[in-house]
Amino acid sequence: MGTSLIYRSAALYDAAMLVLYGRHYFSRYRAIAQLIPGGASVLDVCCGPGNLYTRYLSKKNVSYVGLDMNRGFIDGLRSVGVDARIRDLRTEEPLPDAGYVVMQASLYHFLPDAAPVIDRLLRAADRQVIIAEPITNLTTSRIGILAKLGRRLTDSGHGAEALRFTEETLDALFENYHCSVKTSFLIPGGREKIFVLEK
Ligand SMILES: C[S@@+](CC[C@H](N)C(=O)[O-])C[C@H]1O[C@@H](n2cnc3c(N)ncnc32)[C@H](O)[C@@H]1O
Repeated sequence: MGTSLIYRSAALYDAAMLVLYGRHYFSRYRAIAQLIPGGASVLDVCCGPGNLYTRYLSKKNVSYVGLDMNRGFIDGLRSVGVDARIRDLRTEEPLPDAGYVVMQASLYHFLPDAAPVIDRLLRAADRQVIIAEPITNLTTSRIGILAKLGRRLTDSGHGAEALRFTEETLDALFENYHCSVKTSFLIPGGREKIFVLEK
């Protein structure tokens, strides 16, 4: 199964995300970085090219570990001294512990049943799990060719995945975690919704 174009290099990923998020691209990372105190330990699962750390968290003196199944992204991070590890979250290997466990724009890769991965993130976190997930995207476009393009562009290597969240389906999933959810809100521009779960 081939990895899609946007997952083949950090520069291509950035360019595609800039087109998708426009002026709100940077605020998607800022919104998460603001939730993490200086000096915290952070596990970033499905970290991609690691922009959250290299552009934001590195300034906050956090200890950071990034996990992703994409060797290109991980090699890129390791080459600049970041603790990044190749890991396919579909395997049962236990996750490293951290105060704050983050997953951004990646929960859809675990559909149709994303609950087991949320449970694993909760087990790994000492303090909080922060999940940000897109609720609008090309794949839900009524224009067939755009929907198909969206699926192909975000193929992480498991094949073009048809399933994505809407705000309703995401809210319904986190309703099962209502005892843990401390807050939830949309990022500027409204393309992603953030859920903060407390231990
Ligand atoms: C849309 S990107 C998000 C990257 C980053 N979190 C961000 O917001 O910029 C999704 C990432 O999830 C990774 N991914 C998808 N399925 C995965 C799995 N089973 N295990 C580990 N990483 C996975 C992909 O390789 C890709 O880097």
